[in-house]
Amino acid sequence: MADSKAFYLTTPIYYVNDAPHIGHAYTTTAGDVATRWRRQRGEDVWFLTGVDEHGTKVERAAEAGGVTPQEWVDRLVEDAWLPVLGTVDAANDDFIRTTEPRHKERVQHFWEAVRDNGYVYSAPYEGPYCVGCEEFKLPGDLVPGEGEFAGQQLCPVHGRPVEQLQEENWFFRLSAFQDRLLAHYEAHPEAVQPRSAYNEVVSFIRQGLVDISMSRSSVGWGIPLTWDPGQVIYVWFDALLNYATAAGYGAEPGSADAERFERIWPPDVNLVGKDILRFHAVYWPAMLMAAELEPPRKVFAHGWLLVGGEKMSKSKLTGIAPAQIIDTFGSDAFRYYFLRAIQFGQDGSFSWEDMHARYTAELANGLGNLASRGTAMVARYRDGELPAGHDLNEPEQAIITALGRAVEVADRAFCDLDFSTGIVAVKEFIDAVNLYVTEQEPWVLAKDESLSGRLDVVLNTIIESLRAIAVLYNPVMPKAMSSLWEQTGGQAVLGPLMEQRVADVARWGQLAPGTRVTKGDALFPRIDEAS
Ligand code: MSP
Repeated sequence: MADSKAFYLTTPIYYVNDAPHIGHAYTTTAGDVATRWRRQRGEDVWFLTGVDEHGTKVERAAEAGGVTPQEWVDRLVEDAWLPVLGTVDAANDDFIRTTEPRHKERVQHFWEAVRDNGYVYSAPYEGPYCVGCEEFKLPGDLVPGEGEFAGQQLCPVHGRPVEQLQEENWFFRLSAFQDRLLAHYEAHPEAVQPRSAYNEVVSFIRQGLVDISMSRSSVGWGIPLTWDPGQVIYVWFDALLNYATAAGYGAEPGSADAERFERIWPPDVNLVGKDILRFHAVYWPAMLMAAELEPPRKVFAHGWLLVGGEKMSKSKLTGIAPAQIIDTFGSDAFRYYFLRAIQFGQDGSFSWEDMHARYTAELANGLGNLASRGTAMVARYRDGELPAGHDLNEPEQAIITALGRAVEVADRAFCDLDFSTGIVAVKEFIDAVNLYVTEQEPWVLAKDESLSGRLDVVLNTIIESLRAIAVLYNPVMPKAMSSLWEQTGGQAVLGPLMEQRVADVARWGQLAPGTRVTKGDALFPRIDEAS
């Protein structure tokens, strides 16, 4: 990092019109792995997630459920959105709800500042609105309906007719930021990723930006404008601000919140799905510029989890709850699978067969088997005491070199949010160690007392490799890796796994001879195809 600021990463805040599905859990997991990696590097980190509670979509869901919007969101947050963080094993530092006073007050403060700066004015709005997207649509955004929707204009994301709005609104002068946004993106080509997303954003801005409604007069469930309390702030212009309000924007000077804001602003990464790229890479930085705040350093748009070629969604009844997968495979395998099997930034399909196949090949047979073979042989041949690893030969040197390369590739990849490359770099190291075990045949060495020194070296090499793997995979699979860390003796000799640094992983020989190695439960128990 170029300065001493903390690494601040956010997920979008999720609509609480319904319970989470694996599409939501995917974004949270990616953010969690990226931030755990940064922590493993020793960086100061802040990881924020939360929920988006206002707007028509949530209001209508509550109405359909026969409760007030506040009751609706309270129940869903408690019963579904907070628990899912535990289900996927997310280690977030904060969780923001947009109904919290800290958020409401700071959002109101923000829009007053923007109005004082001359970027808010009153005017009538007439045009299409998609409640599913909570978005004022532009004519070019819509597609003609067919069948039951013939003759109507549809939202291409939700496949449903848009609603015609006619309201007196307050407008945000987005058009004033066209040139500044273009200059910003020209100077910072890394600020929107992947490259295809950057191109999309720049060409959208080049086509010309029009001013956009920042309030709604026909919606009751939201944050009122201080200067016109009959209007609530348009839900996106309330929600986007969570990244600032939770960080501490607008807090009492000198307070802990204000200090945190200084420490972590601006966000290093706003992680989003590609469906909400325009909000984050056009409206959001423009809003910040209007309030004289620094825009995010990077907006990364990931792809969709697809079902039958379409975006998985609750409204289309294609949502799979994270627990449906995690109850069978565990949170570690869930985290591993989605970040390993889908190139981050591309769409991907989930299938039970593929998940089962990778679980078995890469986790149970690959890493799990290496760990159980390695620890079992130390127990069997050396009474659970790690032997010394002097006199390294060419095969051991090759392992050490492979580890150095894996650390280098993985570090670059995880920092760039290229999770699959990072995971594969470590997997290739695991494959290399498994091959080393097969070729060195320690079970044959064990039969010949004169080869005892050589057996020591081989066992030491396997356990040292497992030590490094536990550190490198800890951000991805924290539960299994903490068990592996215990088994290798790392916990007793080197201290907590979280405190091991990426920069030190490749230093060979960290586990002292005599370290107690134990064979624990299988890291990735076999799963019956039928289960
Ligand atoms: N509330 C807004 C975001 C406001 S952020 C200031 C919203 N919420 S959402 O619940 O609809 O979606 C939140 C995130 O989940 C988005 O990043 C979206 O892309 C992601 N996903 C929802 N369905 C998804 C898939 N099927 N696949 C991958 N991600 C998906 O938008």
